[in-house]
Amino acid sequence: MNKKTIIITGVSRGIGKAIAQKFMEEGFNVVGVSRRKPKYKITHYIQADLTEEDSREKVIDETVRRFGRIDILVNNAGIGIYESWEDMSIKELLKVFEVDFFAPVHLTQLALPYIKESKGTVINISSVAGELYVPYKSGYTAAKHALHAFSETLRMETKEYGINVITVTVGNVKTGFTLSAYGTKNPILLPFPGKRKELADKIYNAYIKRKSKLTYPSWYRAFIIFSKLFPKGYEHIIMRIWDRSFKKKRAIRQFQENLYGLNKTLKVVKYDKKSEVKYSKFSGSKQLKILK
Ligand SMILES: NC(=O)c1ccc[n+]([C@@H]2O[C@H](COP(=O)([O-])OP(=O)(O)OC[C@H]3O[C@@H](n4cnc5c(N)ncnc54)[C@H](OP(=O)(O)O)[C@@H]3O)[C@@H](O)[C@H]2O)c1
Repeated sequence: MNKKTIIITGVSRGIGKAIAQKFMEEGFNVVGVSRRKPKYKITHYIQADLTEEDSREKVIDETVRRFGRIDILVNNAGIGIYESWEDMSIKELLKVFEVDFFAPVHLTQLALPYIKESKGTVINISSVAGELYVPYKSGYTAAKHALHAFSETLRMETKEYGINVITVTVGNVKTGFTLSAYGTKNPILLPFPGKRKELADKIYNAYIKRKSKLTYPSWYRAFIIFSKLFPKGYEHIIMRIWDRSFKKKRAIRQFQENLYGLNKTLKVVKYDKKSEVKYSKFSGSKQLKILK
């Protein structure tokens, strides 16, 4: 019998790489898609920019020509945008929607005839930002909410063909994701990041057990439920977190500016408990003097 074939987008690094390696271990034909070539062993690599419609068609055509079947499609490739709505560039927002939403929808449409034939699976890698409202991650939140809605309704519409759809809600996993995001409002670093390999194992288990949802790390489920039950409490907490984070980041930026501007006498900025930015001076000795 032919080996099962899985298409995974965004395989050059991060979560996509871990999923590709897991399915390689499990003996699948793994077709990986990204703009940069992965630096590990994969059955077949297709270079594609998923913002382009032609590239999406190439991914499905090439896979079917080469392997004759599609059993699983993993819509993993994604990009973030961290900006306020006021300052958001529409050009960048469109790019985010192309990668995070339109590419998954289009690839699924193109792959669906083959996935129907194999009674296969579509796995959409979403985010807690697809279930929570996160300020300054606003564009990304909107794109992941759209992906989430697509994923959940796709399951209902394709159940009659024996297709399973898994929506994966990822909380925080250490990858280069935040570095490649658009925008100026760099996100806060969330505590207790999960591990890529563990997530890939859980995705594989969810596929085998034909689960419909997976949240990783699992404690994010409690946070999501809290936000639905106590929306005002959630809004208060999330705004406080951002407020503190912005002040801290502003202080660090100021520190860096002073550092480069003052040559040997360094001026540093310290963030105090009452959310006030205070200036500190450090010159020669290790003593730290608060200037206010
Ligand atoms: N890491 C987290 O904490 C976290 C949290 C929630 C959700 N997620 C979701 O998990 C998924 C994977 O994220 P990650 O953390 O692994 O991020 P990552 O390390 O930045 O990897 C993103 C992947 O997407 C690919 N990609 C980006 N734009 C592309 C384009 N235009 N065409 C083709 N491929 C493109 C990148 O490859 P090239 O640059 O080579 O094209 C890369 O392989 C994303 O959907 C993200 O939203 C991650």
